[in-house]
Amino acid sequence: METVVSGIRPTGNLHLGNYFGAVKSFIKMQEDYNCFFFIADWHSLTTHPHPENIRKSVKTILAEYLACGIDPEKATIYVQSDVKEVAELYLYLNMNAYLGELERVTSFKEKVRKQPDNVNAGLLTYPSLMAADILIHHAHKVPVGKDQEQNMEMARKFARRFNTIYNVEYFKEPESFHFSEKAVKIPGLDGSGKMGKSEGNAIYLVDDEATIRKKVMKAVTDSGPTVPNSEKPDVIQNLFTLMEVVSDPSTLAYFNEQYNNCAIRYGDMKKQLAADINQFCAPIRERIVDLSQNNAYMEKVAREGAERARESAAKTLREVREIIGFRA
Ligand code: TYM
Repeated sequence: METVVSGIRPTGNLHLGNYFGAVKSFIKMQEDYNCFFFIADWHSLTTHPHPENIRKSVKTILAEYLACGIDPEKATIYVQSDVKEVAELYLYLNMNAYLGELERVTSFKEKVRKQPDNVNAGLLTYPSLMAADILIHHAHKVPVGKDQEQNMEMARKFARRFNTIYNVEYFKEPESFHFSEKAVKIPGLDGSGKMGKSEGNAIYLVDDEATIRKKVMKAVTDSGPTVPNSEKPDVIQNLFTLMEVVSDPSTLAYFNEQYNNCAIRYGDMKKQLAADINQFCAPIRERIVDLSQNNAYMEKVAREGAERARESAAKTLREVREIIGFRA
């Protein structure tokens, strides 16, 4: 059976981008693959969070994973920092990662621009840690959104390089996985590109009806098309892209037709979109509330997940140490 690995950084609540870019695939894949889904708490240290915030955010993501339908009976759910072998593999991969290639990673360059006062080595070597997460379980497939393509390219490169340096066929090259044919990028509704927590434009799975409505109604639009069948500007396409993932296909077809006939009323479209987002989020929201009160259950899930993940990771590390020339 093929293996799947993926993770999400605990930096707050899950938003629609996380769900449609990653979690939706997790839920599907757990039925047919040997799955490892983790909470990437080591990755979140690049921004120096307060210990209390880490504890809270890890618990939040765990509750949200479960509320979305990731099933601990089918998939191994764990917290990254519970599996110390990952840090050892990260060390080995860093020895084969070159400054030039790490500095060329787009998300690193963006961070250098946005936070020049905190360009730490963890940010620079983020792709090595991510590769360690993936290679530690020999993943065949990694469900991620479009923004992770370059990190995935690096993971494949580090796998190949390890094999070349030690003249072995040990690590597999992992592939990205998307539930549709192409990589998913859920847009924000402020016209600024992708939906994200740091972009401040996210709709969260826990948002209540009024909050969702407020966020959607505020979305940027234009004065409407004047020529039939014209191409949609980005801000308008964003509304349609969201509708594509949360609404019924007939609803999407109706508003497309209205757009193409120059009869579209964006107010109506936004009301419908807000209602459909709410309908999608409501059951998840309820389960998040229930689960958040069940600490004992979440503790048990994290403990059992860590045990299973450690077993798989320890086997890899024994083999890797042997290949490198250390005592296994
Ligand atoms: P993170 O925590 O930023 O995001 C988690 C997942 O959500 C996807 N995503 C989106 N997809 C589509 N549209 C969006 N607007 C959107 N916003 C977020 C991301 O692509 C990602 O799949 N480096 C990773 C975490 C990570 C990881 C790993 C993933 C660490 N190690 C190993 C896979 C395998 C990250 O920062 O994702």
